[in-house]
Order: sequence, then structure tokens, then C-alpha cells
Amino acid sequence: MESKPLRGALIGCGFFALNQLRAWQDLDGVDIVALCDSDPERLAEFARYAPEAGTFSDAQIMLRELELDFIDIATPTSAHKPLVLMGAWAGVDIICQKPFAATLDDARLMIDACAEHNVGLTVHENFRWQAPVRATIEHLRNGVIGTPFFGRVSFRSGFDVYRLQPYLAKTPRFIIEDLGVHVLDIARALFGDVARLTCETRRINPVIAGEDVATVMLAHEQGVTSVVDFSYATRLANDPFPQSLIEVDGDRGSLRLLADFRLQIHDAHGHVETLDVAPVAPAWSDAPWFPIQESVLRLQREWLSNRLRGQASETCGVDNFNTQALVEAAYESAVKGMTVVPARL
Ligand SMILES: NC(=O)c1ccc[n+]([C@@H]2O[C@H](COP(=O)([O-])OP(=O)(O)OC[C@H]3O[C@@H](n4cnc5c(N)ncnc54)[C@H](O)[C@@H]3O)[C@@H](O)[C@H]2O)c1
Repeated sequence: MESKPLRGALIGCGFFALNQLRAWQDLDGVDIVALCDSDPERLAEFARYAPEAGTFSDAQIMLRELELDFIDIATPTSAHKPLVLMGAWAGVDIICQKPFAATLDDARLMIDACAEHNVGLTVHENFRWQAPVRATIEHLRNGVIGTPFFGRVSFRSGFDVYRLQPYLAKTPRFIIEDLGVHVLDIARALFGDVARLTCETRRINPVIAGEDVATVMLAHEQGVTSVVDFSYATRLANDPFPQSLIEVDGDRGSLRLLADFRLQIHDAHGHVETLDVAPVAPAWSDAPWFPIQESVLRLQREWLSNRLRGQASETCGVDNFNTQALVEAAYESAVKGMTVVPARL
């Protein structure tokens, strides 16, 4: 373990960044020494949560003035490319929120710049780190149901996401890009990379600009067929937001991740074991967000432990390119009405 805490700066001090700050504050081994936001009012408001940190409205100036080990970028995607390039040129490790890049060309450019300057690049893709999802991934990887042949990852909710993230109502590409990217990433973490993809989209809410429902069928290279479906237009008495529900069928049994954090393991003899896979909510978390907030803490803990061992993160830039390629392929498939072969790095 390095004796001195790593010196980090958080760039973009909006709605989601507070989770990232609080998670860093829970971890020994990291000091968030600076906050940066181009909006002075948001910066001043946010600085209340880390009064000891320096404040900057320009990331370039911050990187020039401070000695940092890493930056944690929590701005919208439109600001990712200039900030990641600045970080690479400054030689600091980078964590960047999803959706990582506006285009796959931008993603490749940022990945190449980080490699060229030998800086670590991690995309803050946290859904595969949610405790129930992680438990499902680990049981599958441990072989408890044998070889999988079918999967479903489903996120269906009527939760009003537009209240805290009003920009989501205005974006022409909505649910696949914002939420679907996470659910598709879970499918990759479970079943591996994808050879072919087909997608259908709908807009149910008439006052938003983009699609709020999508259904994607994936042919994974290792032989699994999966259905990944997501909706922000689903009315349910017990809304499971923000849980992703999972079904996996294997040749020796099946897994079912149900609402309320129960994981069922069915064997080939008709027996079922039910595990409690509920997240341990951090002290600063709040309902209904705590599964996501806990996954932020887990992702950042994983990043720190990998960083201290000199290892790349599971959701490094190259890995995330292959998730983002599914997003691009899904839009292309929906527009063209055909099956698409996603790009791969
Ligand atoms: N992983 C998750 O579960 C999750 C959940 C919600 C949002 N997000 C992602 O987090 C990111 C931020 O979303 P949000 O809802 O917090 O947005 P937000 O609009 O609330 O906050 C973004 C902040 O970034 C600042 N900013 C923009 N450009 C900047 C720049 N060049 N330099 C410094 N500051 C800049 C803005 O002033 C704003 O304060 C998005 O990419 C979003 O997709 C992830």
C-alpha cells in the first residue's frame, strides 16, 4: 500500500458527482484535493461537501497548478473528450463517467491518447458493480449452472428520471444511450462480447425528445442468446427502480435475479436455493438510489485497489468501447430495421 493518499480532483460537480465525492470520502487512500466546475454557482454549492478542497472553474488551470494523481470526470459526455485529452497530456490517471464518448471515433481517440501518455483510463460503468448484479455475475462465472445458453437483463420502470436529470427529456438519443448502456454492459459482463445485435425502439412519453423503450436481442460470441430490454414507461404498483432483473438458463440449472434483491439458483433436479444479495447501503445513501450509490463505492474501491497494484480496471477504456459499440449498433439497427454487427476493439 502506498503510504500517501492519492490526490484526486473531481471535475463536474452536478447531480451524480456527489455520490462519487461521498464514495471517495469513505475510502482510505484517496484525498479529493480539488473540485472543478465551469458553473461557479454549482461549484460553490458543491464545495460545502468538501470544504478542504481547492475550487477551480477551469480544468486546464487546475491541472497546471496542482500535482494530481488522478481526475474523476463527472461532466456530461460533450465535455469528456477535451477533459480526457487534458488529463492524458498532464499525465494523470483518469476516471470518466458514461456515456464515455459522443462517437466511437472520439472513444478511440481518447483511448489512444491515454495509452500514448501511459495514463490509466477507467470508465465509471457502475451497474455491473451493483451487489445483486455482481452476485449473479459471480455465480455464473463460478459455473453453478454449467454453460449458459440464454439470458435476459431487464430494467423496466416508470420512475421520473426527468426531475433530477432534466436534460434527459431533451436529448434525441435517450434511453439506449443513457440507461441502456449500463444494461448492455451487464449483458457483456455476463455473456461476453457480441457478434450480432437487433433492436426495436419506441417513444411512449409524448413530451420527451428521444426513445424511452427499447428491446435488444444479442447473439454473443460464446453462444448465448440474450434479450436486453429497458423502459422508463412501465407502470408498476411496486416499481423496482433502479434494479436490473436477470434470467440466465444454463445446461445444468438457471439463475433468476428477482426484485427485492433475491437471487434464485435452480439446479437440474428441481431444487432451488434463494440468496439474499441486497446491497449494504452506505451511510450517505438514500432511497431509492442506494443500490446505485453502493455500486459507485464498489467501483471506486475496485479502482483504488487495482491502481495500487498497477492493474487496469475491469471497465477500462478498451472494455467500455465494446459496450459503447453496442449502443451505436442498437441505434443503427432500430433506424435501419436490420441486424447489425457491432464494432470491436
Ligand atoms: N453511472 C450512473 O449511474 C450515472 C447516473 C446519473 C448520471 N450519470 C452520468 O454522469 C454525468 C453527469 O450527469 P449529471 O446528471 O450529474 O449532470 P449535471 O448536469 O447535473 O452535472 C454536470 C456538471 O458538469 C459541469 N460541467 C460541464 N462541462 C464542464 C467542464 N468542461 N468543466 C467543468 N465542469 C463542467 C456542469 O456545470 C454541471 O455542474 C453524465 O455523463 C451522466 O450520464 C451517471
